Amino acid sequence: MATGDRAILPEGARTIPIFVMGKRYEVPETLTIMKAMEYVGFKFLRGCGCRGGICGACPTVYRKEGEYKLRFGLACQTVVEPNMYLAQIPFYPANRAPYRLDELNPVAETIHALYPEIFRCVACNNCTKACPMGVNVLDYISALKQGDIERAAHLSFDCIQCGLCASRCMGELPQYHIAQLARRIFGKYIQAGAEHLKHRVAEIESRKYDAMLQDLQAMSHAELEKLYKEREREPDLAPPGTWRPQDTQYL
Ligand code: FES
Repeated sequence: MATGDRAILPEGARTIPIFVMGKRYEVPETLTIMKAMEYVGFKFLRGCGCRGGICGACPTVYRKEGEYKLRFGLACQTVVEPNMYLAQIPFYPANRAPYRLDELNPVAETIHALYPEIFRCVACNNCTKACPMGVNVLDYISALKQGDIERAAHLSFDCIQCGLCASRCMGELPQYHIAQLARRIFGKYIQAGAEHLKHRVAEIESRKYDAMLQDLQAMSHAELEKLYKEREREPDLAPPGTWRPQDTQYL
């Protein structure tokens, strides 16, 4: 049974065949695609970043033997299955419009002007099917066509910019770049500013933290390491918003 991403293999782990660039390898069935490729000797110099499903560097396309269906996943998250035929697509070429965020008019027409290809969308939904994060790509493209930047920003929030949507697009849209622009416009111009952020910036500007930073800069490596190890930490399973440190002088 697959047990996830483990560097130390469980005793008795079975091996299964996978195909990388058309060549057959036997790998422990417990590994992610990334770990399995490393297990058989591949070294990731590119196409690997966070190993945590966040950076979007490891998109993978695969078919399972006997299936017509093309499948998509992140190599660092997807556990191998028998007879997967794999291809890594660490980068996909897609048009990225030049702009300066500070100079943009925060309306949908701005996005339409920078990415006129958005109207080449034929609503085939291949983009959504290709997304390893479960983002409804077609819905956010449709929202933008209709002028709803806020909806597009929310719908695309989990995008990790891997580019698999663009790789499957019949209209040759760079969906992930378009969504990034929508989120940037939403964040800078439309969404209400966060009060706690304003508060913290004001504190920094009032030099509240200067003395603490100077103390830290004067410490030795060993002292810093000790301080780091002994720091107060939020328990892993603390319900959100329920934990407060005992030392609140810098909150
Ligand atoms: S390595 Fe970052 S998402 Fe896979």
